[in-house]
Amino acid sequence: MKEEQKFKMFAKTFHGLEDVLKKELIHLRASNISIGNRGVEFYGDKALMYKANFHLRTALKILKPIAEFKAQHEIELYDAVKSIPWDTIFDVHQTFAIDSVVYSQHFSHSKYVALKVKDAIVDQFREKYKKRPYVETENPDVQINIHISDNICTLSLDSSGESLHKRGYRIKATKAPLNEVLAAGMILLSDWDFKSNFIDPMCGSGTLLIEAAMIAYGIPPGIYRQKFGFESWKDFDSELFEKIYEEESETKTFKSKIIGSDISEIAIRIARENISNAALKRKIDLNITPIENYTPPENEKGTIITNPPYGERLKKTNIQDFYSTLGDLFKDKYQGYSIWLLSSNLNAIKYIGLKPSNKITLYNGPLECKFLKYDIYQGSKKRKFKI
Ligand SMILES: C[S@@+](CC[C@H](N)C(=O)[O-])C[C@H]1O[C@@H](n2cnc3c(N)ncnc32)[C@H](O)[C@@H]1O
Repeated sequence: MKEEQKFKMFAKTFHGLEDVLKKELIHLRASNISIGNRGVEFYGDKALMYKANFHLRTALKILKPIAEFKAQHEIELYDAVKSIPWDTIFDVHQTFAIDSVVYSQHFSHSKYVALKVKDAIVDQFREKYKKRPYVETENPDVQINIHISDNICTLSLDSSGESLHKRGYRIKATKAPLNEVLAAGMILLSDWDFKSNFIDPMCGSGTLLIEAAMIAYGIPPGIYRQKFGFESWKDFDSELFEKIYEEESETKTFKSKIIGSDISEIAIRIARENISNAALKRKIDLNITPIENYTPPENEKGTIITNPPYGERLKKTNIQDFYSTLGDLFKDKYQGYSIWLLSSNLNAIKYIGLKPSNKITLYNGPLECKFLKYDIYQGSKKRKFKI
């Protein structure tokens, strides 16, 4: 990668996944990587930007900053945005949208900031071409991001377009599906070796199973996507992207099992459809079984990663009993396995009664959760533990 062709990028993610995202970026050979708040800054060339979108499992978006300036007033903002040669980035016939994030005493309304940025872009095109590009909030050709922190404004092009968690394999969702980026992050944070069994005994729509299979078989998460934002830019190099797509879509071999089960017939039907859409039908086994009746393959090793109900719709005593039962089941049936569980219900978690060996804070949407690890070995004891 030639130094002069490198530029700065910012990969956005969820709180708690910054370290795994950094590791993924190291693997892609990004340079000058530094962790920020809910994201990681890095440098690379155009090929790396395409690869980042295609390969990163824990990134939501890859932003490419194109201008950084100071502004304390809407006129300064308007002038700075208008000084960028927009017609070198996109065409007057293309649609665009502005996404604004503002933490500033100088600009109190993020929607107003977006409006000013839009005006500057539209006015520039109109003055040059007597025509204007139109704003399209759903699926615009070009997504522009303005971030203002006090008086520091960063204007970026969103090279991803639609958020990267929208892999393209999910046709249907159950009531509380995990975000795909969060699911991939949980798997990469866990100590699963990608060689032994992977089981989710409360799999719902199958997000963890699909993400696990993609990791185990080396399937890039971008393979199902119809489109990335950078494909609409004027400088899009289709040959380069095709090369990345062809060369780097090779699969690994995986000899163990990926198993999902759920008490709900509907959930398993949805999981089956999503799995089939991801072309993973022969790689994942599914069962309609309550966890109370499920036994993982005995005398084998593996990792359980699961996202049980948090109990919003259940009585308090019921959810406590359910988590206590989970603890009993883990202790009795899962010897040799390590278990990772994500839940926002800290009170219920205590009723599992096993001592976690690792504890990570993650957010499932707005819900603060604990992602806990339990090592199950012969003679694991149950008692109450503080979480
Ligand atoms: C929070 S959802 C899991 C969502 C899943 N991770 C996804 O991405 O779609 C919890 C799942 O646990 C299942 N469940 C509840 N009680 C169960 C039980 N006793 N045995 C097995 N599954 C159960 C529910 O049917 C539901 O699909």
